[in-house]
Amino acid sequence: MSHSPSQHRGFFITFEGPDGSGKTTQIRRTAEWLRGRDIDPVLLRQPGGTPLGEKIRGILLDSRAQDPVSPLTELALMFADRAQSIHEIILPALHEGRVILCDRYTDSSEAYQGAGRGLGSDRVLAVHRSVCDDLQPDLTILLLPDVEKALERARRRNQRHIQQTGTDENRFEAEGEAFYRRVHTAYGDIAKREPQRVALIGPGTGDDGIEAIATRIREIITERLEQHLRNVSSV
Ligand code: TYD
Repeated sequence: MSHSPSQHRGFFITFEGPDGSGKTTQIRRTAEWLRGRDIDPVLLRQPGGTPLGEKIRGILLDSRAQDPVSPLTELALMFADRAQSIHEIILPALHEGRVILCDRYTDSSEAYQGAGRGLGSDRVLAVHRSVCDDLQPDLTILLLPDVEKALERARRRNQRHIQQTGTDENRFEAEGEAFYRRVHTAYGDIAKREPQRVALIGPGTGDDGIEAIATRIREIITERLEQHLRNVSSV
């Protein structure tokens, strides 16, 4: 089912995982490593990344919002943001042959809106096909820590935030444990369904600790990027 943008020289990498999975640190380290190899990556986060997307992000993550956003509205806004970043950033970067590091993409919608909010994968993937023209990443790094450890970390982080600001960290982080568990399970299911695209890094893959995970990510990207460049140069 995966339509890869591999006709382009560019390489589209997404980073996925539940809140508290250490994604942000790993994206930063990956970007530094790439720069050291003379590759200047395009960095992007979802929701956000474009002027319109940052406004949508504000609406979506504001836990103080007086008017609750319905699950379907949430889904539509996530995809409105995504469609804009594909148009403004992702496709132009792929055409220029750039490496893109994107913090979250459609797997997040499948995990959070599809499983977390209960809208179902089929509906989310149908929206992806129509609104994103089914544009798939070349590679997805999925950080899926042990669910109990991740829940503990997320709780501590949210608690700190409440103490400092008087508000929950964001609408999603304020969700309950059952929601978080559904998100976690959905990510695991996506990895099983699409093992070619999704590189799962988590307990059971022997990758514990920031350093070990960073090394593993570098190995995966090196291998997949070389493979990709061989493929595009042979067409
Ligand atoms: P953010 O602060 O960027 O969290 P993180 O650092 O964990 O990525 O907030 C993004 C939140 O938006 C996160 O809780 C997941 C959620 N989200 C969805 O629910 N659906 C989506 O399609 C995307 C892209 C994000």
